[in-house]
Amino acid sequence: MRLSKRLEICLKYVDGFHNLADIGTDHAKVPIEAVLRGYVMKAQAIDNKHGPYVIAYSNVKKAELLDRIQVKRADGLSDISNDTDVAIISGMGGLTIQKILQDSDLKQLKRIVIQANDNEEAIRKSLQNINFKIVDELVFADKEKLYGVIVVEPGNERLSTLECAFGPINLRQQPYYFTKKIKKELDYITTVIDNLTDATKHPDLLQRQQDLKEALMWKETT
Ligand SMILES: C[S@@+](CC[C@H](N)C(=O)[O-])C[C@H]1O[C@@H](n2cnc3c(N)ncnc32)[C@H](O)[C@@H]1O
Repeated sequence: MRLSKRLEICLKYVDGFHNLADIGTDHAKVPIEAVLRGYVMKAQAIDNKHGPYVIAYSNVKKAELLDRIQVKRADGLSDISNDTDVAIISGMGGLTIQKILQDSDLKQLKRIVIQANDNEEAIRKSLQNINFKIVDELVFADKEKLYGVIVVEPGNERLSTLECAFGPINLRQQPYYFTKKIKKELDYITTVIDNLTDATKHPDLLQRQQDLKEALMWKETT
């Protein structure tokens, strides 16, 4: 089963764990590959909608893995097995993922791999409330589209406003696709500001421009 680069990247972070919960599994490709490759002993393919649940069940059955992958129709992490130690939540909006995390009892999880389609900031902001901290971050391109992955584990860390917006590890390491993305937005916002008659009437734009500049300067200033 071929996985996209995006899903391959999520998958590599679960190698060595015991029972994976793939939340919003859709086709169940991720738990199937995780078990077939021996990354985890067993897995759960979880989706809250009927259509994806049916497809997930059919794919797990075809792969002859119904004894090692439980297919469940459930909301977020509400119905994970007691021995679940790792979860992937990918391909959803940041606010949906934030809600899933906030509504769940996460005590048993040793790692959560998060790939949000937008609003990573909302997720980083809520990490402190759920007692998780960021252990890795990535920005990468898959078919010319840029994605981010945030890997979190139990722990506490206080993030600044800028760290919530851009990611503490991204800021420290300034990876290639991260700076590319920031520079692109900065060029765009600067053009918009330069074309305004009175930019002082748009403090949000000016603040964003300042934040983007600070994000690129992070290495030199801290
Ligand atoms: C775009 S698909 C992503 C599939 C796969 N995880 C990926 O990254 O390619 C999003 C899936 O999440 C499911 N979903 C959305 N909200 C959910 C929730 N609260 N709990 C479980 N599944 C959810 C949707 O039904 C859909 O199948």
